[in-house]
Amino acid sequence: MRKFLLLAGLFVAHLTARATEGMWLPHLLTSLNEKEMKGMGMKISARDIYDLNKGSLKDAIVSFGGFCTGEIISSQGLLLTNHHCGYGSIQKHSSLEHNYLDNGFWARNQKEELPNAGLYVTFIVRIEEVTAKALEGVSSQLDERARQSAVDKNLARIKNDTKRESYQDVLIKPFFEANKYYLFVTETYNDVRLVGTPPSSIGKFGADTDNWVWPRHTGDFSLFRVYAGKDNRPADYSPDNVPLKPKHFLPVSLDGIAENDFTMVFGFPGRTNEYLPYEAMKSIVQGQDPAKVQMRDAALKVIDGFMRQDEQIKIQYSAKQASTANAWKKWIGEMQGVRQTGGLQRKLDFEKKFGQLAQGTAYNGLLDSLNALYREQAPYAVYRDYYNELVRNVEMMNYANELLDAVQEAKKKGPDAWAGEREKFLAKMKPLYKNYNNDVDKEVATALFDIYFKEVPSNKIGGEGYQIWMETNKDGRTTANKLYSQSAFRSYEQLEAFVNRPFNEVAAALWTDPASRFTIGIRNGFAELVSKPYDALQPQINRLQRQYMQAQMELLKDKRFYPDANSTLRITYGKVNGYKPRDAVQYDFITTLDGVMEKYKPGDYEFDVPEKLRDLYAKKDFGPYGANGKMPVCFIASNHTTGGNSGSPALDAYGNLVGLNFDRTWEGTMSDINYDASICRNIMVDIRYVLFIMDKFAGAKHLVDELKLVHPKKQAKPAVLKKAA
Ligand code: ARG
Ligand code: GLU
Repeated sequence: MRKFLLLAGLFVAHLTARATEGMWLPHLLTSLNEKEMKGMGMKISARDIYDLNKGSLKDAIVSFGGFCTGEIISSQGLLLTNHHCGYGSIQKHSSLEHNYLDNGFWARNQKEELPNAGLYVTFIVRIEEVTAKALEGVSSQLDERARQSAVDKNLARIKNDTKRESYQDVLIKPFFEANKYYLFVTETYNDVRLVGTPPSSIGKFGADTDNWVWPRHTGDFSLFRVYAGKDNRPADYSPDNVPLKPKHFLPVSLDGIAENDFTMVFGFPGRTNEYLPYEAMKSIVQGQDPAKVQMRDAALKVIDGFMRQDEQIKIQYSAKQASTANAWKKWIGEMQGVRQTGGLQRKLDFEKKFGQLAQGTAYNGLLDSLNALYREQAPYAVYRDYYNELVRNVEMMNYANELLDAVQEAKKKGPDAWAGEREKFLAKMKPLYKNYNNDVDKEVATALFDIYFKEVPSNKIGGEGYQIWMETNKDGRTTANKLYSQSAFRSYEQLEAFVNRPFNEVAAALWTDPASRFTIGIRNGFAELVSKPYDALQPQINRLQRQYMQAQMELLKDKRFYPDANSTLRITYGKVNGYKPRDAVQYDFITTLDGVMEKYKPGDYEFDVPEKLRDLYAKKDFGPYGANGKMPVCFIASNHTTGGNSGSPALDAYGNLVGLNFDRTWEGTMSDINYDASICRNIMVDIRYVLFIMDKFAGAKHLVDELKLVHPKKQAKPAVLKKAA
């Protein structure tokens, strides 16, 4: 008994220290979070955030293309997201003549707004728990495969039975390691047009050097507009579509933020793993992260070199390079953060206590078994990452894999299927080759082949792939020479000719083309020697991970649990606050245009500053957006965010827009697996900087005029006065 009390006390202390941890489900705020949120300064109710009967904040939040978040900020469907979220679209509209990446783009009217095929936004209409129905007839006796198929059947039935409009979709996802299931009714709009973007020298200011780093000075925003059919419902692109009339749009605060202000971030965080056991975390930070970083170190060195020398390559590779570099740097930060905060030791301490709590329960020994499974899987996880990084970064292998998939698909579907599969394949390849350069890819391949064959033991590569490696003297350059001077994958035209033949010829030629032969060899070896044993362990891991989650929720009675991020709508809240990254250093919570000018390097590819912005700075011409003679740029707060939260609105105590989330701080990127409230901060562009750039820099005042600008601080009665009265 005493032991238990002691432990309970410890967990409560743990809880209060981490009050800002958590990505919470919006429909559960009333029961789990409202009280705490109000205690931290929130002035609205949970129902103002999520309500089924009236427009609420959630009606202004969208998943942007499935990879970012956006928010509606005007009655005419104007949407705000990050520059790096709009990047792919901006790049597709860019050429050497119209370089919107370099120069920015601003539609002067709705006619000039640019459509983006394939881009969509999704609203959440309502959320319901469906756990009981999802688990109907699912007994603990079923093995994982049988269980999953029983659940899948249930989910299909639930979906079918769910009431919805013809233009709505239903999505059901597992939460808490599949201990719970929630259903989402959604509306997806497919006509989303580019409205405006600053030049990269503002929207990506600081580029990779500053990425994941505070103090930050990036104006990471872009504007789109959601279009609907004349009935305001989702409609495919048509010039006749009209701007969406949203159920809610976010008012924009001109009053800025102060230290300790309450803020919340509302959006679609992608993936976190907060409930892993020790061995899984160890495998990530000591095995998988280092492997991925090693591969990308090499790939990025090559790509950066080419991009700095050649304008055409710089445009072609900009988006790919940004995404490769982004995760690469995050993993480095993650390893470092876990080390610095003693994340592994913290897991061990927790697990010791959990083990004591579990004694005498059905969960006794559970963690040991789970840890043992992860330990067994760890080496395969590392080889798997080497493989995935190889076929991801060597584009020729990536393309060859696509063709193999198409050929296999055609084989499965029968003799007449090839024409269709070939068309699909070519349609996919064409835009990729627009951004492909054979010399760049060859150098990437040279470097990565050497690493792959050195780091992955030959008995985990397999005979077919290793055979080719021996034929080319176990040398990356020799292997690459062969692939990149002979393969049909060198150019779109050659590839087109290669596949424009009868099915049997193509299927046979795959074995003679050096790139596809090599890719097949490596792929088959990987499937048999790495993927298979890795996957064989996964069902049992899933099962124990699910039981471990259930055990924690049962045994730690005082703890409120939030589910890991899974690209569903979440809210996280915290306070505007600096932090102490290391001994003797204290970071402030806000940056200004002064800092942009401090970092300014004329002509530099990361730190150049446009002349117009320098002029505005010199004249201190900040319009109504400055504060005390300064122009705020970015700020940080203790909101728990992750990838996918990019473009999420930062809201004040009243639900007004005060900032735009786009990053986390270096010391805190480990928050996906090891949240620590003392150093984990999210980074936002101050909304006043966004308005300043739109209005003063870009001359797009007509867009600012579309917004509802508010002064919550000036209007609200100061709390002190109210008390005195
Ligand atoms: N780190 C941020 C995120 O994870 C920003 C990435 C875009 N910026 C860049 N330099 N790659 O998405
Ligand atoms: N930049 C990230 C994104 O694209 C958000 C930063 C993070 O990972 O927290 O979603």
